Amino acid sequence: MVNVFDIEVQARPDVFKQKEQENSVLQEKEEIEKNETIYDRTSFMTTFSTDAYLEDFYTKVEDPAMQMVLKFLPLIACRIGSIDRLLDFGAGPTIHVAATFRDYAKELHLADYLPQNREELIAWKENRSRFDWSTPLKMILTQEGSAWEQLQEMITRTRNKVHGIYHCDCFQNPSVDCPSHLHGTFDVGITYFHLITIPFHLGDRDYLLRGVLLQFVRGVQECHQKHCWSNQEWR
Ligand SMILES: C[S@@+](CC[C@H](N)C(=O)[O-])C[C@H]1O[C@@H](n2cnc3c(N)ncnc32)[C@H](O)[C@@H]1O
Repeated sequence: MVNVFDIEVQARPDVFKQKEQENSVLQEKEEIEKNETIYDRTSFMTTFSTDAYLEDFYTKVEDPAMQMVLKFLPLIACRIGSIDRLLDFGAGPTIHVAATFRDYAKELHLADYLPQNREELIAWKENRSRFDWSTPLKMILTQEGSAWEQLQEMITRTRNKVHGIYHCDCFQNPSVDCPSHLHGTFDVGITYFHLITIPFHLGDRDYLLRGVLLQFVRGVQECHQKHCWSNQEWR
């Protein structure tokens, strides 16, 4: 008995080849997915390598997404203008956001979930980090139209403006372990590559957004309070 597909193959060998290719791509994808490790909150805590993250994404800055961030951040900072307090939520071990806002914010605050990342941030603040930030920082200077000779001044100015490095957890409220008088007083909250990475690994996107947003402008905090008082679901 001849089946319909055989007839199609006889008539269209190109179709058969295409189907074969599609199948092998599918198999390859399944194989990769089978070998992929899905981290939960506990394993993520120990397996995330701060050094490897910095090395992979911030040494040569070849990743197009990183290049895009470094290209647009200076424009965003310039458009926002002068502010009192900036919070980089989920900063990881990175200081490029802080550096971009060095001339606009009076105070820079950094928060991250992982102790190894916070340790790197503290090391950077205390001038004992071994990581060289020259490439990304020069990209920011270029975007600003500033000379590369200003690199050292940029670093010193950023260091002096970093007022706090805190633990944060978007699933908690408050989501940042900063002194209580700072809660909800940040004028601008930045979170890069945070919303896209965590939900897949760590769960509920609503919680993440709520945790991030609650730390920001007073308006969000007030809105949250109203919802709490009226016993409404937070959306
Ligand atoms: C991909 S890194 C992004 C780092 C940095 N913002 C950047 O642009 O390179 C994501 C960060 O989210 C943090 N993170 C993981 N779980 C978190 C949670 N529950 N609450 C807040 N941050 C979390 C991790 O510690 C990690 O540093």
